[in-house]
Amino acid sequence: MDVSGKNIVITGGGSGIGEGMARRFAAEGAANIVVADLDGDNAQRVAQEVDGHAITCDVSAEANVVAMIAAADDHMGHIDMMVSNAGIAGGRGLDTPSELTQKMFDIHVNAHIWAAREVVPGMIERGGGYLLHTISAAGLISGPTPMPYVTTKHASFGFSEWCGIHLKPKGVGVSTLCPTMVITPGFAPPKPPPGAEPPKDLAPPMSVEECMDALMDGLAEERFIILPEPGVADMWAARGNDYDAWIGQMGAMFADTPPPGARS
Ligand SMILES: NC(=O)c1ccc[n+]([C@@H]2O[C@H](COP(=O)([O-])OP(=O)(O)OC[C@H]3O[C@@H](n4cnc5c(N)ncnc54)[C@H](O)[C@@H]3O)[C@@H](O)[C@H]2O)c1
Repeated sequence: MDVSGKNIVITGGGSGIGEGMARRFAAEGAANIVVADLDGDNAQRVAQEVDGHAITCDVSAEANVVAMIAAADDHMGHIDMMVSNAGIAGGRGLDTPSELTQKMFDIHVNAHIWAAREVVPGMIERGGGYLLHTISAAGLISGPTPMPYVTTKHASFGFSEWCGIHLKPKGVGVSTLCPTMVITPGFAPPKPPPGAEPPKDLAPPMSVEECMDALMDGLAEERFIILPEPGVADMWAARGNDYDAWIGQMGAMFADTPPPGARS
């Protein structure tokens, strides 16, 4: 996927990884970039810097996603690449309030489905297009990350894989960006439980620019899974090769932590 000359929408484009994408895609010659974000001031700031167009949008409701994509379509004529990137951190164990779990399902999963439903028919009609989903290594493997984040990111990965299988043969490319820890305003690296060793195979948190380097390499090859931290591939393979050993190993790591609470 060569982003030069393309019309691109980026949700969560006002900060962190989404902002990094807007800057990198602009530098690589994207024709038009729509920066869609809940934070209208940040969307405006980034849009101005990349000569793009800002849309304030809360992607946790279907009607907002539909309206945002219609406005982006009006502005650019058509959409070549839809980047579903907006995301939130937070939550705990079983005691996570249901409203937060639902919100994460809406932002991390449903918003991707709603966006694809709007843009894919036009892409197929025009003979091509691209979906880029920012998920997370937490969509592939569980660990210290809170329950609703891991659960919704796994669901998000499932949807992305479905898109890869069903849309790629129809000319719509799909990539899923699965970073581990990237230094952004919204995400603090998860802390391992007291006394537990952090997984040895993982590198320290990376910068947004490093994540963008990996993203551009992956997009150039139109790879389905883009892993900025390659160590995740080994952990993922180890899990697949012996799931019970993986569950045991991770369980041992958290054995001394307090049990997750009941409903709060
Ligand atoms: N930073 C990391 O370590 C890391 C690792 C793996 C995956 N991710 C994923 O990367 C994506 C971007 O995260 P980031 O680290 O850049 O965080 P960030 O907080 O810096 O940026 C997220 C952006 O999404 C926007 N957003 C939040 N809720 C929204 C909503 N309902 N509607 C529209 N916009 C909304 C925020 O306003 C913000 O501008 C997320 O999906 C996150 O889960 C981040």
